Amino acid sequence: MGCPAPKVSNNGSGSALMKRPQLCGEIVAAVKAAVPVPVTAKIRKGWDGNSVNAVEVAKLCETAGADAITVHGRTRDQMYAPPVDWDIIRQVKQAVNIPVIGNGDVVSAQAAAQLLEQTGCDLVMVGREALGNPWIFSQINAYLTDSCRILPPPGLQERMLVMMKHIQKMCDYKGEHRAMNEARKHVGWYLKGMKNAAEFRRQAGYLESWVQLEQLVKEIMEANCESC
Ligand SMILES: Cc1cc2nc3c(=O)[nH]c(=O)nc-3n(C[C@H](O)[C@H](O)[C@H](O)COP(=O)(O)O)c2cc1C
Repeated sequence: MGCPAPKVSNNGSGSALMKRPQLCGEIVAAVKAAVPVPVTAKIRKGWDGNSVNAVEVAKLCETAGADAITVHGRTRDQMYAPPVDWDIIRQVKQAVNIPVIGNGDVVSAQAAAQLLEQTGCDLVMVGREALGNPWIFSQINAYLTDSCRILPPPGLQERMLVMMKHIQKMCDYKGEHRAMNEARKHVGWYLKGMKNAAEFRRQAGYLESWVQLEQLVKEIMEANCESC
């Protein structure tokens, strides 16, 4: 119940459901009755600044049987732009008894700890930061469970190895043609902060095959080898 994309919300789906709280509850109840697994709902702060209703929607979802609720602390008209309102997550946490998952701008282990502390939420959900940075999860876990331990960021070799493994799995799952098309943006994300990233990102935009990816990774390694 959070997607802001016009092609989704113009159909009444995604974040547009925030405008129809009763329907949110009915959907949760219908799903709950239909599946044997836990049912969670993900909502936004509201549709816009004049209709902030996350607390109301969360309560209706809880009553309808939701097992947990994720709150993205932005309204639909804020799309993905900061700032995210963590206070609305705190308000939802105080209003319901099911686990609350806080979401929005968790870009580091410290941010995850702050979100948990400031809102009292039970879990955090990471969105965009995970793109090209799957290490964020172990970084958060180390920080939270091991006395604020900060894991060093991965070196170039590990980053490239994990990226290749990721894209290899995409090829296995989707076939090389489709996977390499989608891999273009993932390569761009994995390159964040690297030397000549803009140029390699441009080249990644033309990737069509696994062999081309291997060649590109070789060039990236050569250009950045002092940080291997
Ligand atoms: C490209 C993109 C795709 C997304 N797809 C989904 C989705 O399918 N389901 C969902 O619940 N949220 C989706 N989201 C929203 C994120 O889960 C998250 O709520 C949002 O990005 C805010 O968290 P962040 O600030 O950590 O990125 C998507 C976000 C982006 C940028």
